[in-house]
This record gives sequence, C-alpha cells and structure tokens, in this order.
Amino acid sequence: MQEITVLSPATVANVVCGFDCLGFCLEEPNDLMTVRLVDKKTVKIKHLDDYNLPLEPEKNVAGKALLAVLERIEENIGFEVEITKRIMPGSGVGSSAASAAGAVVAANKLLGERFSQNELVELAMYGEMVASGAKHADNIAPCVLGGFTLVRSVEPMDVIQIDYPTLFATIIHPQIEIKTSYAREILPKEVPLKSAIRQWSDVGSLIAGLQKGDYDLIARSLQDFIIEPVRKKLIPSFDEVKTASMKAGALGGSISGAGPSIFMFSKDLETANQIKDAMNGVYSQTGIDFKIYVSPISSKGVVKQ
Ligand code: HSE
Repeated sequence: MQEITVLSPATVANVVCGFDCLGFCLEEPNDLMTVRLVDKKTVKIKHLDDYNLPLEPEKNVAGKALLAVLERIEENIGFEVEITKRIMPGSGVGSSAASAAGAVVAANKLLGERFSQNELVELAMYGEMVASGAKHADNIAPCVLGGFTLVRSVEPMDVIQIDYPTLFATIIHPQIEIKTSYAREILPKEVPLKSAIRQWSDVGSLIAGLQKGDYDLIARSLQDFIIEPVRKKLIPSFDEVKTASMKAGALGGSISGAGPSIFMFSKDLETANQIKDAMNGVYSQTGIDFKIYVSPISSKGVVKQ
C-alpha cells in the first residue's frame, strides 16, 4: 500500500476533573487526511482548507509527528500528507490532536502496523506539542484508540482504555479561538492540597462510575475545583450554558479541552437534544457565532475512509 485516506475524529480532553489525563472520542466532526509514501526521507504537507496552518513540517503538528516516525525507522522513505481540516483549530475539541494522530495512524498502516498503541500515542504527542507547548496526550489517546481513555503516564507512555455506558455529549463551539498554550499559561503552578484531594477523589469515582455504568456516580464526580474556575473566564456565558444544560437534564460537563467549546454529558439522545436547545437559547443572546454537535462517545478512533 502506497497511499491511505483516513478520517481523524474530534475528541474531548480533561473530562471535567481529569486535566491532562482523561479523554473521549466523538463521531463528528473529523478531519480528512491522505498520507502517501515517497522514496526520500522527507515530510511534505499540503492543506486543502482555508486555515493557513504552517506547511514547514517542524511547525506543523502532522509534520512534526511524522518526523518523529521517520526518526524511528531505518528505511529511506518519507511521507506526503494532504489535510482537509474540518475541526477548527483552537476549538477545544482536539483539532491539533486529530492532525497528529491521523498522520501517525495512517503512516503506521502504510508501514505494515509496526508500532504499538502506546507508541502511536507517543509519536503523535510530539506533534501535539507544537500546538500546546507541553507533553500531554489526553486528546491524542482517544483519537488513536477510540472510546474513553486515561493517560496514566506520558514518560513512559501508558494509556488505559476505560469501559463506559451509553453516553451522549452535547458540545457547543463558540466561534472564537483560544490558544491551548495561553490557556495553559494562565493555570496555577501550585494547587492547594484540599483542592487536589477533592479532584483526585472525583477522577477515581468518575472511572468507577464509568466502569460500573452508574450514572449517579458519574454525575456526582463531574466537578472541577482546579482548572474550570480559572479558564471559564475565557469563555463568554460559560456559567449560563452550564446552568441551562443542567436544567435540561445534563449529568454534568465543563470546558472541552482548553476551550472555548463546552461539553455536557447525558444518558440518551433525547436529553442531549434538549441540552442542545438550552445551549442554543443561551448563545443566541450573545451575538457570537456558534455550532452545536451532538455525538455519542465513539468507540472508533482514526479510521480508514
Ligand atoms: N489537557 C489539555 C489542556 C487539552 O487542557 O490544556 C488541550 O490540548
């Protein structure tokens, strides 16, 4: 096989209490990527969209991830990539992770599936670092593996797939851009022990709730004492969206990744659509353009088109 086209999905990272470690995969939106083998150790990027993303492989998330792949192989080969981004950069639903994970998973298929899942997540993380300036794989892991994931460690990479019951996410994407690097800069460097205890208790109970399919426990665990209070100031009408969503039956939710998207979980599609209406009601008043997606947690990560 010399060429492959893949769909690389959007993902939600952090999942309220799990900053930098929890994430899940969405059915849509997704990026379309074609990766081609060439007989020279180079990476060439072409964008078929209007986002004006960098084309130099070192500055491009897909390019950087593929350079990391080339460092791990001995053959004198390289990659050409065509990317149609349908996940807006800076949206908070894993746009950079989709580019990096899509490139690495596609390259791995062209190379005869030689990398393990942990290696794929690690290679794609080098691409993600171009966008966020930090080593985290909470969007990359669900994008590569699908479903719900916990990144226990990035050095060495150790990703765990978490069982989950039927869950729908309603995601509002205000059409403003928040740079992940900035959303990380403003975070506290130290956390009071009291907040840390509440946070890690919730991460543990969220995982237990997901594995048992206990919706009440999931709902009780969807709290964030550390990141949301700081970052929500970057998102117009965050509190109003959350309050209206909870009234419409949401189990809970928060900022998706570094924002500005906000996601809310529900047990069924009917409630997810009621939350959509509630979010619509709030954001229609703001004068800011927005899109709303409703998606189940998708068990599929990057797939061959
Ligand atoms: N965990 C990351 C953050 C996800 O919130 O900064 C966004 O890339």
